[in-house]
Amino acid sequence: MYQNLIDLKSKSPEFINQLISLAIELKNKDARSVQKSPVRGCAGLLFFEPSTRTRFSFEMACVKAGVHPLILDGSTGTSLEKGESLEDTIYNIEAMKPLFFVIRSSDQLNLPEVIKHLRTPVINAGWGIQGHPTQALLDVMTLIEKWGSVKNKKILFLGDVKHSRVVRSHLELAESLGYHIGYCCPADFKPQVNSPFFNQTIYFDQIDRALQWADAVVALRVQKERHTDVVGSEFIDKYRKNFGLNRHSLTLLKNDALILHPGPINYGVELEKEVTKDDRSVILHLVTNGVFIREAVIRKLVLNE
Ligand code: CP
Repeated sequence: MYQNLIDLKSKSPEFINQLISLAIELKNKDARSVQKSPVRGCAGLLFFEPSTRTRFSFEMACVKAGVHPLILDGSTGTSLEKGESLEDTIYNIEAMKPLFFVIRSSDQLNLPEVIKHLRTPVINAGWGIQGHPTQALLDVMTLIEKWGSVKNKKILFLGDVKHSRVVRSHLELAESLGYHIGYCCPADFKPQVNSPFFNQTIYFDQIDRALQWADAVVALRVQKERHTDVVGSEFIDKYRKNFGLNRHSLTLLKNDALILHPGPINYGVELEKEVTKDDRSVILHLVTNGVFIREAVIRKLVLNE
């Protein structure tokens, strides 16, 4: 029986720890190597929304695992332009018998409903504001590499929490692995999440206390494309002043704390360029680790290695 990866709440802590250990093992073995075995089949990488890190790292992970990635990158040049639905697109590509799907889409796609009609494993590569499980896994892999364990650590999410699928996946992962979640944002960016675990998170309305609390801070992009109201220049100026990461605000962060951002970064909004050069930043380590987490997911969850 195959498995999907739509969320993390359906996976046991043992399974998650095994996935992360496998990713670290694959990275340590030889970060640049590609398996020499024959190609086992093709995977359908369906990116209905834009992506750089997730798409490219899934492509690399496929190649490393001996799977040929076939990519749908936006609607241009496909029959989506002629009005074909996302669902029909997926069902037609499934008829060509890919080994598995990697799907990025907006909330417009009802992913749980779609997978009821499929006989092909699906990996969620970022679904609207619902979840981005491999991003949360690669964040935690990076923290485990630095700390050995994430248990009882305090992880702060700073920014557009309302639209963050990364936060939603971390809520599931934190409950499973035992780390604490705090979030800091203006009232307009507070999320509505129906989960008992969410009630255990801490909300900070001021960045100073939030940064002093955190063992790691994850800065989040202001997702202008998902705001129905206008996020204008006045709002952004105020946001940058009160919630932006910069040389000054970083003086409040612990000396051994870590700085993360899933990318892409809006420089001059949620953080200033100098933050990426701070010794505590692991932003590009996250991107490296994305390849190995995705390779581990493909090998363990889909190929049953
Ligand atoms: N972090 C992330 O999902 O980046 P992309 O949108 O570039 O894939």
